Amino acid sequence: MARATSKFVCQNCGATHIRWSGRCDACGEWNTLVEEDVASAPVGGAQRKARAGRPIALAALSGAEDQPPRISTAIAELDRVAGGGLVRGSALLVGGDPGIGKSTLLLQAAAKMAVAGNRVVYVSGEEAIDQVRLRAVRLGVHKADVGLAAETNVENILATLEAGPSADLVVIDSIQTLWTDSIESAPGTVSQVRASAQMLIRHAKRTGACVVLVGHVTKDGQIAGPRVVEHMVDAVLYFEGDGAHQFRLLRAVKNRFGPTDEIGVFEMTGQGLGEVANPSSLFLGERDARAPGAAVFAGMEGTRPLLVEIQALVAPSTLATPRRAVVGWDSARLSMILAVLDAHCGLKLGAQDVYLNVAGGLRIVEPAADLAVAAALVSSMARVPLPVDTVYFGEISLSGAVRPVGHEPQRLKEAAKLGFSRAVTPSRMSGGDAVKGVEGIESLAGLVAMIAARAPEEARKP
Ligand code: TYD
Ligand code: MG
Repeated sequence: MARATSKFVCQNCGATHIRWSGRCDACGEWNTLVEEDVASAPVGGAQRKARAGRPIALAALSGAEDQPPRISTAIAELDRVAGGGLVRGSALLVGGDPGIGKSTLLLQAAAKMAVAGNRVVYVSGEEAIDQVRLRAVRLGVHKADVGLAAETNVENILATLEAGPSADLVVIDSIQTLWTDSIESAPGTVSQVRASAQMLIRHAKRTGACVVLVGHVTKDGQIAGPRVVEHMVDAVLYFEGDGAHQFRLLRAVKNRFGPTDEIGVFEMTGQGLGEVANPSSLFLGERDARAPGAAVFAGMEGTRPLLVEIQALVAPSTLATPRRAVVGWDSARLSMILAVLDAHCGLKLGAQDVYLNVAGGLRIVEPAADLAVAAALVSSMARVPLPVDTVYFGEISLSGAVRPVGHEPQRLKEAAKLGFSRAVTPSRMSGGDAVKGVEGIESLAGLVAMIAARAPEEARKP
């Protein structure tokens, strides 16, 4: 039987299929299968003759464990996310929605590193040289000595890199635009992206340059095509944020040379991305503390404490199935809190619409936000504003108990730094001395009673 000469590769997840179909069986995406040549796949062919291997020397686990040599990008927030600077000879993938500011950030980093005396090459496959120059002028970095190229062929890029003195930083914007002669399929396909990345990563390992690859993500948050690159690179950073807000978060999701729970916070301004050293003040900036339904959550993003406002609105519903709308938090988690409020505190929310919003466009994943969410919900339902000087954190269990969470001293210290003098926390916590009025509560019912006790006091105010 004749061997198939082509296969169909899903551009979303990289799964291969023998036949074309409208939908990928592996990831369920529509219209993502593209025909690619079997011969072009960079996998070692089965036809190759087996050769006898040669034994290699095994090393011990202990021994000289030098820290990897790092170069600072002179952007503290970027250094922090990368684990203390970029590692020589490593490859980094920066993913994010189109227009979020990847090119801007990397051009700023490239310029700063060039000013610090590193040899920097910036290859743009998306923009013409003039466009990059215009951006550099706008960012005020056009004086920096950056080698600029508008090129999409990997062989040409590698030849250029190898011709000159070896570079310290190579930025490739973006990996989706690259193509190599060794593969038949069109640029942007999974096999082109994979092969191009492989060649650039090999260059990084060989010469000790840091290679930064830019990748676009699709609407569902996956790096399209370049997702296959995630396994190959040493670190993957996501640049996120939403268009309606100024701030941007850089998050490490994989890092072979550092922690993955770090975030960097930036603000998009007219002169490019500015670093935000104190993010809490950014997220609490436009707070209307006198309104019911707002609670300040003392959260953690990685090793960084971060205060955010959680807003809730509980209103009578006109629908048969009341609305539950959540922005910035998990909707299943909200349902859980509502069920606990109903079962253990007797608050009937079955005929109410519930809206929950995390201010500033931030997305919270910590269960520690449970208590702040519950406080905002109860406050909105009772129409009682919460005290302006109080932060909340704690996890709520299905039994209605409030459970302790980690990093309590950091949370309280951040709250004190921003002028909060009281905290409502799980009762088994020690308190510490950063915040004076630490109030430990054992159960959700305790929180409801605490807010209810404020009602007459609030009613007396003008
Ligand atoms: P860009 O870096 O081109 O995004 P990406 O490479 O991720 O696609 O960012 C473009 C956006 O940033 C664009 O909408 C305009 C905005 N921007 C500013 O607000 N200020 C600036 O100084 C720059 C250079 C861009
Ligand atoms: Mg770009």
